[in-house]
Amino acid sequence: MNVLLLGSGGREHALAWKLCQSPLLKKLFIAPGNAGTTQCGQNIPVSVNDFDAIKRFVLENAVQMVVVGPEDPLVNGIADYFLSDPLLQTIPVIGPGKKGAMLEGSKDFSKAFMQRHQIPTARYQTFDKATLEDGYRFLETLSAPYVLKADGLAAGKGVLICQNIKEAKQQLNHILNDQPFGNASNKVVIEEFLHGIELSVFILTDGTHYIILPEAKDYKRIGNNDTGLNTGGMGAVSPVAFADSNFMQKVEERIIQPTLKGLQSENVSYKGFLFIGLMNVDGNPFVIEYNCRLGDPETEAILPRMETDLLQLFMSLSDGTLKSVPYRVDERTSLVVILVSGGYPENYEKGKVISGLDKIKDVKVFHAGTASKDNNVITNGGRVLAVQTSASTIEEARKKVYSELPHLQFDKVYFRNDIGIDLMKYQK
Ligand code: AMP
Ligand code: GLY
Repeated sequence: MNVLLLGSGGREHALAWKLCQSPLLKKLFIAPGNAGTTQCGQNIPVSVNDFDAIKRFVLENAVQMVVVGPEDPLVNGIADYFLSDPLLQTIPVIGPGKKGAMLEGSKDFSKAFMQRHQIPTARYQTFDKATLEDGYRFLETLSAPYVLKADGLAAGKGVLICQNIKEAKQQLNHILNDQPFGNASNKVVIEEFLHGIELSVFILTDGTHYIILPEAKDYKRIGNNDTGLNTGGMGAVSPVAFADSNFMQKVEERIIQPTLKGLQSENVSYKGFLFIGLMNVDGNPFVIEYNCRLGDPETEAILPRMETDLLQLFMSLSDGTLKSVPYRVDERTSLVVILVSGGYPENYEKGKVISGLDKIKDVKVFHAGTASKDNNVITNGGRVLAVQTSASTIEEARKKVYSELPHLQFDKVYFRNDIGIDLMKYQK
């Protein structure tokens, strides 16, 4: 089958790498892709949000499935666009329609959804410009730190954790009145701060059946020991040892099943990935957020653990056979370290030549922000490379990855050197 994959990050390189191992694949196209995805298929210069250009490409190239990496096209309704077009409606899109994608596209929608279906999450209220004063009063009922979330998509920058009430009130006023995230700032969710340890749980679902993919821990801050600014993610580890079978049973019963039942009861069809950001609060899972896609860099950690044909799983979403695909996972630890451009997540330069890609062995290198120029691979984003390996312990995986990193060089390269250390204490 011919498949079109949308996106250009490390997540998409990992998806492309996994898909191109399938004997069911004929041709893989990636729009727009990066320098790494060309190892797995053909990059095409089409934007993920240009649905008319995607339609033309799909029809001209006999594409039989579209796999959506990032959230934007899903929130913008690419699945609905395909379903409503007589020429496209038989071509499956892996990812939910606009309504299902609202679980990520609107924090207010997702919190109200959780409340309707009694899914554990932090206590919250939503405010807009007209109810700013009520927002101040709600803040006074909470204790520090304060969590403020812009309602819409804000490229990962829409969540603010404020250490004192003065700052929280200022930020609430700033978001609603200065609209730093455009329309995404029209409403703000204020919620209770949850104390615990985070993990990312992923399912693949046809709306009724589901499989739970390997869970992962993401490292969001730029600095070692979780210090400094938030980033898209600086590393990932899977499995997460504290997510034992007892904890995962709670996740399934209290979160996954009520979420799918809730979607069904609201007539929202959902075929694709659902990413549940969780906080483990004293052994009990609470939802921090839903995403309608896989995580990045979690994907680079979890797909190498998946021993099942991913394309076969995707095909099974259309005919109700998801549960009959034999699903197997590599039990070893998968660890990913992200190499970023110096300055990220603030200003950084692009276009630096990356050397050493031919010298690495024993680890996989997924490209995140790269491009090709004059026979060189150059940096083309904040997060540049995702270096992954699998081993029987975190210590061993760390040794393998970190001993290879010195080969990979570009001007002002930076990475965290503590990925996985915090999880060692949970290993048996
Ligand atoms: P989100 O974009 O919703 O994932 O939020 C970004 C980050 O903010 C999360 O990964 C958490 O680290 C943190 N966060 C969000 N909501 C809460 C909460 N209610 N309590 C504690 N931390 C939170
Ligand atoms: N790594 C978190 C995310 O993809 O949203």
